[in-house]
Amino acid sequence: MENVKKKNGFASGIGFILAAAGSAVGLGNLWGFPFKTSANGGAAFVFVYIACVLFIGAITMIAEIYIGKRAAANTVASFRNVNKNYGWVGLVVMFIPFLITCYYSVLGGYTLKYAMNSFQGNGGILGTFSVNVGEVILYTALFLAISLLIVMGGVKGGIESASKVLMPILFLILVFIVIFCLCLGEGVSAGLNKYLNPDFYAFFHDANGNLSFNGLLAAMGQAFFSLSLGMGAMVCYGSYTGKEIKVGKSVAMICIFDTCVALLAGLAMFPAIGALLPEQLNSSGGVGLMFAVLPLVFDKMGAIGQIISFLFFAMVAIAAITSVISLVEVVTQLIVQKTKLTRKKSALIVIALAFAISVPVGMSLGKVAILETNGINLFGFDLLTFLDEATNAVLMPLGAFAACFAIGWLFGKKNSVKDWFSPKTLLNNLKEDGLDLGKFGMIFAVMVKYVTPVLVLFLDIAGIITNVTKNPNYWFIVGFALLLVGACTAFYFAFLRKGDLGNNELELLKEQQLENK
Ligand code: PFF
Repeated sequence: MENVKKKNGFASGIGFILAAAGSAVGLGNLWGFPFKTSANGGAAFVFVYIACVLFIGAITMIAEIYIGKRAAANTVASFRNVNKNYGWVGLVVMFIPFLITCYYSVLGGYTLKYAMNSFQGNGGILGTFSVNVGEVILYTALFLAISLLIVMGGVKGGIESASKVLMPILFLILVFIVIFCLCLGEGVSAGLNKYLNPDFYAFFHDANGNLSFNGLLAAMGQAFFSLSLGMGAMVCYGSYTGKEIKVGKSVAMICIFDTCVALLAGLAMFPAIGALLPEQLNSSGGVGLMFAVLPLVFDKMGAIGQIISFLFFAMVAIAAITSVISLVEVVTQLIVQKTKLTRKKSALIVIALAFAISVPVGMSLGKVAILETNGINLFGFDLLTFLDEATNAVLMPLGAFAACFAIGWLFGKKNSVKDWFSPKTLLNNLKEDGLDLGKFGMIFAVMVKYVTPVLVLFLDIAGIITNVTKNPNYWFIVGFALLLVGACTAFYFAFLRKGDLGNNELELLKEQQLENK
């Protein structure tokens, strides 16, 4: 059995780490992190972000990977494996990546367009490209088609092989671009200053000088999104790991890699803006940074700028592809294991559905990009914002909470009331079950039981309150998210609580039988 399980999963530890890092490193690092840092007090944000990675991110990631690893099955089966009444969480966390795919692939399409258009110059094209619905749809389709091909190839042949090639390329391009940008001469230090000067006042205050938790919420949310947590991706990838993979060490490497890439991205962008477009330094935050400001910076570099632009957007596209495949895999894994469909057909269904939804999202985004407000919207939100907020601000922290709760409270033998509250008992249960984190075991047990879930709930509730206060229509987003949770729960108890959910090993057997036919 062990032998078979091994085959239907990552072939090597490094393959798993690169694939998980590939999931983590994406638009969140290359685009989100730099502008959030500059908008929230520079290095002050970086310090808090790193604390969030350590105290929330790494702990949740260990919990998620382990939940998948011990079940070696899809997310519903993995959560059900912890507790029979808890499998609905697996269904919820399968919908989150699906919803993210619907907008992430539109942005992925943008990066492909910008990469291919680099030699014509991308300065100022955002306005025309983003409202050219046909072209936006075409590039979204191209982006999804590449992802489809990889996921169809399976975990070892598709995801692992692609990640092993693409991640080193991404890193090399990034290092090259950072060195290039740091050598741009005058203005580089102004850019670095804008990016990294720690300003705790800005971090804890809003634009009007009032005390605000927005910086803190941004740092926590960014840690989740960037590390691909709270949405089944790490549960799913974890399920494909064998005994030889050490969870603690892998998580440390993934977190370090992800954080380094985020920091390096800022180290490239801000010096370049400072040197070539200094007037944009203070307005370079927000969505415009990557698709409006950077292309102007590349234009200013002259002929070499076209090459740098191509390398840059190709790198971002690679990062987005290795991320989106993890999103698609979560859903594909469940379909292929629960139904009679093959992996290829399952992946095709997921991609086709995501594409259908991404079309209105792309149309809606075009209007946002050129700052018109009358695009397609839901309750006053453009579709990208709607999906992004429902997943990032409401559902993902819930998903992460659920993973910590599963390991911290539902897991293992408890013979007395005292056992329920004792991290020591949890530690022993984990060790007995096969998770040995060495000298960090006790820290993990305390964190996953008491600290991380509280912080995550704070993020969720404080985020919702802040947003609802700003705009009461935000309740519709919260309502949508809760409705989804309710529907998944009902569906689980009606149809999935009992019975066969399939697993990785059976998936392999099924594929082998089909091949032999
Ligand atoms: N971590 C990715 C990023 O930083 O862009 C986004 C992402 C990928 C989120 C995969 C969630 C996920 F499952």
